[in-house]
Parts: sequence; C-alpha cells; structure tokens
Amino acid sequence: MFLVTGATGSVGRRIVRVLREQIIPVRAFVRLSSNYEELEHRGAEIFIGDLRVDKDIEKALQGVRYVISAHGSDSDAFKLDYRANIELIDRSLENNVEHFVYISVLGADRGYRESSVFKAKREVEKYLVASGLKYTILRPSGFANNILPLAERFRDSGIYLIIGDPKNRSSIVSTDDLAKIAVDSVKVEGAKNKILPVGGPDILKREDIPRILSRLFKREPIIINPPLFLLDGLRSSLGLLNSELGEGLTTLRTLLGNEFFCTKEEITNLESIYEMKMESLESFVGRYLGSSSEG
Ligand SMILES: NC(=O)c1ccc[n+]([C@@H]2O[C@H](COP(=O)([O-])OP(=O)(O)OC[C@H]3O[C@@H](n4cnc5c(N)ncnc54)[C@H](OP(=O)(O)O)[C@@H]3O)[C@@H](O)[C@H]2O)c1
Repeated sequence: MFLVTGATGSVGRRIVRVLREQIIPVRAFVRLSSNYEELEHRGAEIFIGDLRVDKDIEKALQGVRYVISAHGSDSDAFKLDYRANIELIDRSLENNVEHFVYISVLGADRGYRESSVFKAKREVEKYLVASGLKYTILRPSGFANNILPLAERFRDSGIYLIIGDPKNRSSIVSTDDLAKIAVDSVKVEGAKNKILPVGGPDILKREDIPRILSRLFKREPIIINPPLFLLDGLRSSLGLLNSELGEGLTTLRTLLGNEFFCTKEEITNLESIYEMKMESLESFVGRYLGSSSEG
C-alpha cells in the first residue's frame, strides 16, 4: 500500500493516476473540503484528514509500505512543509515503511533564507537523509501544468505575462513525468537514497515560452513584462495586512527572482536512472490543449 499526501494536488493526483493504472493499492490523504472524486473513481482508498493533525498522520500510515509526500502548504510552511513531513517521517519509521519519496524543490540547498518554504524543504531533506529510512528526494523545477492557464489565455488572446527578467532560465518539468518518477523511485535501484534534480529536457528562458506557444497556437505573442519590484511593493503592503500571504509572496519572489534549471548532465542521469525520455514543454502543452499544428 502506498500513502500519497497532497493527493488532490497537481502532482499528487497524477501520482495516484499512475499507481491506479498499474492497479497498485494507494491510500490518498485528502481534506474533507478537497475535490477527491476522481481519486475515488480510480479506485484509491480515500483517507480524510488534515496534515496539521498528528493523529491523522499516525492513522493514515497504518499498513503502509511506501510513502510519497507530495503536499503543498497554502502558505503555512511551518505546519505543512516542515512539521507534517517530520511527523510523516517519524511515523514511517515506527511503521517500518520501506521507502519514503519526498517532493522537495530545485534550489532547496541554495540557502534562500527569506523563504520559509525553501528553508522547510531543506530541513526536511536533512531529517529524512539522517532518519535511516530508505528514501528518494526529488527536487523538481517548475511544473508544466502551471503553464496551462497561461497557455489558454495566450491561445485566446495572444497575451503572455512575464514578471521579472525574461532571460531567467528554468527546466520546466512535465508534471506527468514527475509523477511517474515519484512512483518508480521505490523500485529503481539507482534512485535509492538519492537526491535528484528533476527537470524537462530543455533549459528555457522565460521569453522562450511565448515563442513555444506561438508555434503551437499559430499566433503572434503580445508580451506584458512588469518588473519584479512591482511585486516587492505588493509584498510589503499585503505582508503588513496578512503575514501568511506575505510569506507566500516572499516564496513567489524567490521563484521569480532566481533561475531554476537542471544541467544537461543531470537530465541525462535522470533519464538513464528511470529509463525514460523527459517530455518537452511544447509536447506537454500540445497534449493538454491541442494545437493548430496537430494534423
Ligand atoms: N508547483 C510547482 O511548480 C512546484 C515546483 C517544485 C516543487 N513543488 C512542490 O511539489 C509539491 C506539490 O506541489 P503541487 O503544485 O502539486 O501542489 P498543489 O497543487 O498546490 O497541491 C497541494 C496539495 O496539498 C494538499 N494540502 C494542503 N494543505 C493540506 C492539509 N492541511 N492537509 C492535507 N492536505 C493538504 C492540498 O489539498 P486540497 O486539495 O485540500 O487543497 C493539495 O492536494 C509541493 O511540496 C511543492 O512545494 C511544486
């Protein structure tokens, strides 16, 4: 039995999909308020709980062999990115879990001290490595599904928004590839006790993305490019009103102000460990939204 946290999230729901396609039993940790119908239809066992409640974590882990921690934090980094994962690791040890897969983030080791999410991820990584559990830590770049709403707007209007430096590079990863990698990590020998950067096959500048969309949807891009300091203004005024929102915007600022890409060598290594070819952003968007170039 697998336990997947964040099972209704972008990568979590794809992880459940991959598992159920292979008819592997999976317990999906969801909130009562979540939209978990799809998981139920796929035959996942639904566990309703809250990751901020230790007892829920303890119960969810009964009879579990593999854990995939794929939840996000709704800007409560301490309780969710940090505490919930520490609790998951401790209870996994008690329950003799065979392998713990942790979705971290590319750049977790760079010491972005201003972002609680990055700090929490790094501390959890260190705790997991020292725990004695068998583990795989995946450090993904930005997920390709984040681009889908932007791509839809582009398809309908030609408008593409780039906040900050258009030359900043990333290795946007197919969220479907990441899900497959997370599942395969428990059986692939080369993934055992490894920390692996996970990205797509291309290092993309932000300004490359509207070019890709332009090719897919056959329309000229209208790029809107506000500078990053506008976000700084918003961050300081909203941060005064709501500290959690301010914290979330600080992480967004870290993501927009820095580069998050994998080297070619890292991708080659990943592809060889998991015996797969990473999907390009163009293929991902084309698959989800179709394109006028499809024939
Ligand atoms: N998105 C990216 O580009 C990206 C890039 C690198 C790393 N990551 C990391 O990858 C992981 C997954 O990201 P994602 O984008 O797939 O997340 P997401 O779509 O934002 O989903 C977050 C998930 O966490 C669940 N969750 C939040 N609070 C919870 C609570 N108190 N109890 C139980 N479940 C709770 C949510 O449930 P509800 O459905 O109830 O809200 C949802 O299933 C995160 O750790 C994130 O930091 C993301």
